Amino acid sequence: MLLSVLALSSLVAAVSGCTGTINSLSDVAAAVKCTTVNINGFTVPAGQGLSLSLVSGATVNLNGNIAFGNKSWAGPLFTVSGTNIVFNGNGHTFDGGGPFYWDGQGSNGGTTKPRPMMKIKISGQFKNVKVVNSPAQTFSVSNPAALTISGITIDNSLGDQPNSKSGGLAAGHNTDAFDASTTDLTISGCTVHNQDDCLAINKGSNIVFTGNSCTGGHGISIGSITSGVTVSSITISNNKVINNDQALRIKMDAAATGSSVSGITYTGNTGSGLRKFGVLIDQSYPATLGTPGNGVKLSGVNFVSGNVLSVNSGADRVAVNCGSGSCTGTWNWSGLKVTGGQAGPMNYKGVSGGSY
Ligand SMILES: *[C@@H]1O[C@H](CO)[C@@H](O)[C@H](O)[C@H]1NC(C)=O
Ligand SMILES: *[C@@H]1O[C@H](CO)[C@@H](O)[C@H](O)[C@H]1NC(C)=O
Repeated sequence: MLLSVLALSSLVAAVSGCTGTINSLSDVAAAVKCTTVNINGFTVPAGQGLSLSLVSGATVNLNGNIAFGNKSWAGPLFTVSGTNIVFNGNGHTFDGGGPFYWDGQGSNGGTTKPRPMMKIKISGQFKNVKVVNSPAQTFSVSNPAALTISGITIDNSLGDQPNSKSGGLAAGHNTDAFDASTTDLTISGCTVHNQDDCLAINKGSNIVFTGNSCTGGHGISIGSITSGVTVSSITISNNKVINNDQALRIKMDAAATGSSVSGITYTGNTGSGLRKFGVLIDQSYPATLGTPGNGVKLSGVNFVSGNVLSVNSGADRVAVNCGSGSCTGTWNWSGLKVTGGQAGPMNYKGVSGGSY
């Protein structure tokens, strides 16, 4: 009896201490039982995803590039889950095959696109991965405990060009870089070129977005905020926003009820080539500067220091569109300077300081 218990526990230890190697989808089930998982480069068959459900404490090493076969289906293309994981991308690439799907309509219509491309459900670290040509939304993050995502490059720059299906519009659409409805998440040192939000926080708290660069899209966003959600304790710092529609935005649905957004701190962010707004805070989403709702209580929006934005001619430097009574408190904007364009509309009196 004692012997067989010993034998069994050493067997379990041996399995979890093993190194698993993935060369194709058929290797996944056995490899994910190990605490070290090495992934070699391969092409995932069209219409299938690569999904890793890891043992707690596992380390994953990506040792080659992963491509996904082209087929219109719902996705996601890649899913990873587990607790206390270290995922080392080693600079290797996930290629979503975007040009096969892009039609200028993103997730609003047209071809069904596998999305999100990358579904991250781990705690620990996810780092040094390159992602190219996402069919639509790129990363969706729902970490079970603290997670740091760092050193990610997302390159959807090919999607800036129109194609034969996009009616003259950019072919890539709704290619959000990071969609986060979560808590205890840090995203740092990432480089993004896309056609939608660089970050979109739909709900959650203790989220830090720092030292990233965002080119071509819709800027760094809180929202859109729907009904019954809370966002609090968000730090947006030391990011560079280049040639986006706006740099920094809080978008709240006009129809939302029972939600709150508070404690949003901006420090050291720079922006240039901004096409529509420097800062846009709007409670009329999906309209822009339409009739605002007042179902999202917004408070504690502060620009601490070193936020320097320059907008294009014709763009608004700052626009604030609050519903009746739904923006509250004093907001300290002493650390915000916006130049270029024109002053935008601002209907909230609780803002102090800043130059814009
Ligand atoms: C999918 O199609 C795109 C666009 O034609 C191409 O760039 C990519 O290499 C294709 N992927 C595979 C795995 O064949
Ligand atoms: C606003 O923030 C700045 C920088 O943190 C600080 O020096 C200043 O005292 C604050 N102003 C108010 C009115 O709190």
